[in-house]
Amino acid sequence: MEDKLAGHPQWAPEQAGEIRAYAAPCRPSCPPGAVIVSRLARRARSGDRGGVRDIPGPPDRPDSGLSAITAAGGLHAYQLRLHERYGPLVRFQLPGAPSAVSVADPVLLEATAAIDNRPERLFEFLAPLCEAGNLQTLPAHEHTPFRRALLSVLAGRRSHEAHFAAFTALATDLADRWAATGEVTLQQDLSALSLRMICQYALGGDIDDPAGVVRAFETVLTVHLGRGPQSDDDLTRAGLALAHLRGVVDGVLAAGGSDLVAALDEAGLSAARIRDSVLMIMLAAHHTTGVAVSWTLHLLSRHPEPAARVAAELDAVLGDRPAPSYADLRRLPYLERCLKESMRLFPPGPYGARETIGELALGPHIVPAGTTIFYPFWAVHLNPEHWPDPETFDPDRFTPEASARRHRYAYLPFGLGPRACEGASLAMVEAELVLAVLLRRFRLEPVEEHPVVPVERFVLWAEHDIRMRLTTRFRPPAEP
Ligand code: HEM
Repeated sequence: MEDKLAGHPQWAPEQAGEIRAYAAPCRPSCPPGAVIVSRLARRARSGDRGGVRDIPGPPDRPDSGLSAITAAGGLHAYQLRLHERYGPLVRFQLPGAPSAVSVADPVLLEATAAIDNRPERLFEFLAPLCEAGNLQTLPAHEHTPFRRALLSVLAGRRSHEAHFAAFTALATDLADRWAATGEVTLQQDLSALSLRMICQYALGGDIDDPAGVVRAFETVLTVHLGRGPQSDDDLTRAGLALAHLRGVVDGVLAAGGSDLVAALDEAGLSAARIRDSVLMIMLAAHHTTGVAVSWTLHLLSRHPEPAARVAAELDAVLGDRPAPSYADLRRLPYLERCLKESMRLFPPGPYGARETIGELALGPHIVPAGTTIFYPFWAVHLNPEHWPDPETFDPDRFTPEASARRHRYAYLPFGLGPRACEGASLAMVEAELVLAVLLRRFRLEPVEEHPVVPVERFVLWAEHDIRMRLTTRFRPPAEP
């Protein structure tokens, strides 16, 4: 990819105006959501309730919309097209969802933020990973204590700091291996590194063959994500891969344990649900963090000026040290901006979904219970109303001043509301540390003959990985 992503469309202005009108506060003390609801309540009293069919969108097709998505070149391109044509709130056909709307405006997204329910069918491909019920679609009363237990550990600065030395050792180990080679494959190596990091953290120990575990996850997801009928061979392969993953989790749990496992235990989770949670966290943490770092390195390798600024910042803060301390991360604001801008252009988790359990007021519309609310995070990040020149890589969009001027739901790499990513703050610490260690040591140049093609799978990644040539920039002093 060069400076620009593939051309993005402009967004339909009329509906955006309508939504702003509905969001205008009636009294200064009124939150925007309350205004929307009160106007809708008036509409409702007058009998003018609207419904999903009143929301603009394309005509239905007999194949549940699959051909429209394929013809657009994928779900992201389709979302961009839909929002360009129909505005920020679109009714559309999503295979696996009986009735769906896509929401790409921050004000409307905020109006959905309290929903604590995911659509069962869209997430059923993850059910085989769980023995005790799909963790992604737990009902709110089971999800809330689970989330609280996860956050009590994953979001704690003290816990990040406690693991920082172990994380640094793992990142340095990768840098040492990279130093012995001229060319590297980013996603493969960085996913394996993230997996080793999360295993330290979630399970309390390292694993023997991280690349084998990454492959096993890949096999399970590839087989179960495939919407067509699965062959016996595929199911056997997926079954063996899953048994391997469970064996890894059990082995490491038996060897040690961790703060996270203790917190889940204290929250009263059964042994089976704890195993499921650990497996799900391994999955949720490694792919995403690995591609977040890969995309950042990819973008920096193609933007020499920001790359030079990052290198200068690292050199100034680290002096003669090869890696930052935990406290140093705060002194690397430009590095953080690059990571954030990369997750805007290439959000590792490009979509999310909720299901309404009651009527929901969205702008001038009432969405009935049972509707899938689809979150096109990637398209939200390219909305030109909030991101001028949205395809350009510009880390300074994330200065504190620029961020304060933007609606907080214009940027959602970790999702929103009660189902937002519990690992967000840990992921930022891990990704910044890995970027700091690698960019301190190396200058990266793209292998031009190797094309980088973003593909939407379980995460947004590069189809044939990303290859880079390395030059050493800094040699760590030899151990005494
Ligand atoms: C850069 C790295 C990461 C990105 C971009 C990311 C992104 C996301 C996104 C978009 C979601 C869905 C949110 C929604 O539906 O609103 C999610 C969910 C989740 N993530 Fe992450 N994630 C990352 C790293 C991690 C890490 C390191 C962990 C754990 C240590 C983690 C654990 C989870 C869990 C458990 C969920 C399910 C949330 C729930 O249903 O309550 N993620 N993540």
